[in-house]
Amino acid sequence: MHDDESLSPSRVKKELHDLRVQAEGSLKKASSKNDIESIRVQYLGKKGNLSNILKLLGSFPADKRREIGKVANEARDFIENLIEAGFNNLQNEVRNKILDEKIDVTLPGRMPALGHRHPLNLISQQILEVLTSLGFDLVQGPEIEHDFYNFEALNIPQDHPAREMQDTFYVNKDIVLRTQTSPVQIRTMLSLKETPIRIVSMGRVFRRDQDITHSPIFHQIEGLFVDKHVTFADLKGTLTVFIERIFSKKACIRMRPSYFPFTEPSAEVDVSCFACDGAGCRLCKETGFIEILGAGMVDPEVFKAANLDPEKVSGFAFGIGVERVAMLKYGISDIRHFYDNDLRFLSQF
Ligand code: PHE
Repeated sequence: MHDDESLSPSRVKKELHDLRVQAEGSLKKASSKNDIESIRVQYLGKKGNLSNILKLLGSFPADKRREIGKVANEARDFIENLIEAGFNNLQNEVRNKILDEKIDVTLPGRMPALGHRHPLNLISQQILEVLTSLGFDLVQGPEIEHDFYNFEALNIPQDHPAREMQDTFYVNKDIVLRTQTSPVQIRTMLSLKETPIRIVSMGRVFRRDQDITHSPIFHQIEGLFVDKHVTFADLKGTLTVFIERIFSKKACIRMRPSYFPFTEPSAEVDVSCFACDGAGCRLCKETGFIEILGAGMVDPEVFKAANLDPEKVSGFAFGIGVERVAMLKYGISDIRHFYDNDLRFLSQF
């Protein structure tokens, strides 16, 4: 531009024209605000291409200066407009991109609400794990049960005073809502026919009974072991291992002579009260202990009803209240918490 030719007005006009073409070309390739801004500085800035060309105007006569000045102004307006349009396009592109997106990545994430295992479910699973590890197989029985399995075969005939022990819901004269899981013992012995039998059953049972430690629907787990030469020591050993595994060794266990029509001898197994530590309180009815299970040696009459020979086999059985175990283990003083489904309660487990 410093040779003579570069100083001719027509040459300057050509330069200005080229500048427009170049600026347009570079803007087409610009893909960011920064790109456009550096193009603006390059072409329109104080030390930019246009300024450099305008500096030459001083050496032209006034009329030529006016003529070229006009062309230069047009070139500047042209490039300025292109730059503004470039910025606008870019903004629209970004906006459209955001509108197109199906997921708004700028929203804070949502934590899915996770469920919890119900405490009764947790305890049942733990009890099952311990018993299956000792070799007991899980079997199921119906909740609506024949009087025969729930009472008759368990050595509780019609009009027997022992029926008073269990406040029964009768569906009709012969059908009851099972009051215990013990009928599963009869069903299993009748169907398996031969020993050894080592089963555990669990599920809902029903009784007309309601206070802070009793509910009309509650859960039991039943164990039955029948073989040759099964003794009370086997029962005690099994229950000791079982209770120690569920409650840890610190819990104090007591076996109390008791009565069940389907076991002889019978025992009630208590654990020291979690609320008062054995001192006596409302929960343990001032006894210091809470009963958690009933157990005993299978009564010969039950074997006879189940078509097994009491001279050849012996066995033990036990029934555990799942609610009671859960109340003891977690320090829950009111059985109704289990059924209220209050999330503040349930989410603690
Ligand atoms: N079925 C008895 C009850 O519900 C518990 C039990 C089961 C007792 C097995 C002895 C043997 O109270």
